[in-house]
Amino acid sequence: MYSEKVMDHFQNPRNVGEIENASGVGTVGNAKCGDIMRMYLDIDDNGIIQDVKFKTFGCGAAVATSSMATELVKGKSIQQALEVTNKAVMEALDGLPPVKVHCSLLAEEAIHAALWDYAEKHGIKIEGLSKPKTDISEGEEEEEY
Ligand code: FES
Repeated sequence: MYSEKVMDHFQNPRNVGEIENASGVGTVGNAKCGDIMRMYLDIDDNGIIQDVKFKTFGCGAAVATSSMATELVKGKSIQQALEVTNKAVMEALDGLPPVKVHCSLLAEEAIHAALWDYAEKHGIKIEGLSKPKTDISEGEEEEEY
């Protein structure tokens, strides 16, 4: 049911942990399944993501997608990180079963939430970033995926 990459990132998740005094921290949850993800970003003065860590209290697919998402944004610029959508994360993992697609949204939204926090702390506006939801199941239609 899961690709080898999903299993690998689930069993050996990359970049697990916290960053002390992170440039931006974002937490998102999905009230429907109760899963929560927190993302920490360390962004340098040139807007490059030097380090990223995450903590996920959630299902295996949520762990695997957060792990892959951290790999995809590490060393990237803020704009490049914004392009790391849940689709990009899923592609990098060789796909997810349809019922698990929503889990990958947590990863995308947690990155956005951490970038939003960074922007607020620095009094800047990030082009193309709108305020992320803290609960991604909010206002969602049943089976809109
Ligand atoms: Fe909720 Fe996977 S079941 S994030």
